[in-house]
Amino acid sequence: MRIGVLTGGGDCPGLNAAIRAIVRCALADNVAVLGIRNGFRGLVENDIVELTRASVIGILPRGGTILGTSRFNPLKDEQCLQLLKNNFAGHRLDGLIIVGGEGSLSAARDLWRNHNLKLVGIPKTIDNDISGTDFTFGFDTAVSIVTDAIDRLHSTAESHHRVMVVEVMGRHTGWIAAYGGIAGGADVVLVPEHPFRISRVCELLASRKKEGRAFSIVVIAEDAHPHPDEVFLTADQYQALYRHDRLGGIGEALAAEIERCTGIQARVTKLGYVQRGGSPTPFDRILATRFGIKAYEMIRRGDFGNMAALKGNRIVAASLDEAVGELKRLDEEIYRVAEVFFG
Ligand code: F6P
Repeated sequence: MRIGVLTGGGDCPGLNAAIRAIVRCALADNVAVLGIRNGFRGLVENDIVELTRASVIGILPRGGTILGTSRFNPLKDEQCLQLLKNNFAGHRLDGLIIVGGEGSLSAARDLWRNHNLKLVGIPKTIDNDISGTDFTFGFDTAVSIVTDAIDRLHSTAESHHRVMVVEVMGRHTGWIAAYGGIAGGADVVLVPEHPFRISRVCELLASRKKEGRAFSIVVIAEDAHPHPDEVFLTADQYQALYRHDRLGGIGEALAAEIERCTGIQARVTKLGYVQRGGSPTPFDRILATRFGIKAYEMIRRGDFGNMAALKGNRIVAASLDEAVGELKRLDEEIYRVAEVFFG
């Protein structure tokens, strides 16, 4: 038997732990594992290497992915698709594991449903926005980085009596912002799921100051939008900040507006790719390892069209249709927990 594995989309901590688990399970069964480089691009370009025990030694604590990754869409044209299918057949793959986020898992679903490729998925992303699983790996590490950053920012906020705006990733959902904000003790958390009123934000910060707390921490997700009734951004700013393919920058605009409205000094820290880097937390290492083992078992059983998922404390199979059907928005209950501490 021969199986393949690829990592697609943005990198995140835990990818190597998943690859290691797949390789270790396969080799124990005398199954050959081919590593496909740089996501789906490697399958189209036939950039493929055999993975051995030596390939995965020492990779468990390492961030990134030893296979490389890309946001390459294999369904972009007929020629790509044909090359991909030829290479899949040429390597006599009995199954392929796609470790990916929304984009890669959507492609996997289409390749399985419409082109009969034997695929299973593993959900990864710092954003935690994949349906069908309680958590994706990468998220816990990102939250711990955000928490650490907020802890550090408190020193300057307090000493200089400033508002510190912390802009975090998360694409169209507020999971990182809400979890990071709760863990770091943020005074305001702004998420895409709840368009914010700038007047309310300034009111909260001003009343904190009045009550003797002249410093504040505001966490804002990169895709959080001002409420349509109170838009303080110009049309050009709007276009630049909320580009479909690249988000980021709303923190700067928010800090400027806070300073203007409240007269309190405001500074911005955009955490950016720091959130995706470095060694995975123990939680992410364990989750990625369990997902890797489950995905391997699904391939062995011929359980294609599914991904490994976490439901409660159990690792189960969830359909790729469910996974990519719609984005998993921030849980309202979690938002309400963050909200308790606003102001
Ligand atoms: O999906 C993970 C993520 O880090 C998002 O939080 C962010 O918006 C995006 O990827 C950045 O993508 P890229 O690596 O293509 O700049």
